[in-house]
Amino acid sequence: MKSIKVHDKIFKPYIEEKELQKIVKKVALEIYEDYKDKTPVFIGVLNGVFMFFADLLKYYPGDCEVAFLQMSSYSGTQSTGVVYKKMDLTKEVKNRHIILMEDIVDTGNTIASLFEYFQNTQRPKSVKVASLLIKPEVYNKEFKIDYVGIEIPDKFVLGYGLDYDELGRNLKDLYQLDEGRINH
Ligand code: IMP
Repeated sequence: MKSIKVHDKIFKPYIEEKELQKIVKKVALEIYEDYKDKTPVFIGVLNGVFMFFADLLKYYPGDCEVAFLQMSSYSGTQSTGVVYKKMDLTKEVKNRHIILMEDIVDTGNTIASLFEYFQNTQRPKSVKVASLLIKPEVYNKEFKIDYVGIEIPDKFVLGYGLDYDELGRNLKDLYQLDEGRINH
């Protein structure tokens, strides 16, 4: 694997497709252990999650349903973090066991808004969260991310669904920025 240029930045190879697939399979089987006797609804939080979501479901051996959620944020931020103005969910999940699927948990603001939205408006039977990646050095929320693929340092990553200014989502492997954090 070679370094690549996306927009104005250089990204170096970080986690290869084969290794990502092992991680995704591990998460799928961990979830299955807890939901064997149930039919959970996997909810993909778009856009970044689409590759992780599709791959995980291929490794999930039990019954399950899927739904997608599109969140739109205000362009500004407030002291409490990002404020979401719109949540479009493709399926009713009242009284269902749901698993929220994220590509990456960074500050945790997104996942905190999601939790609030589901608890306050959707009345599911249970809510758990699965994320392919988490940046523990940045994550500042108390609640637990139930299923984590891999912990990564506080460096911007790209590929496997994740973008840098909308480019790079189609890369099969994960890349890492050399120079540190991008404010996004
Ligand atoms: P949060 O800070 O946990 O709310 O993360 C917000 C969103 O920022 C994530 O869902 C991703 O879409 C994006 N994000 C966070 N870190 C990265 C990264 O390293 N690469 C690409 N996108 C990221």
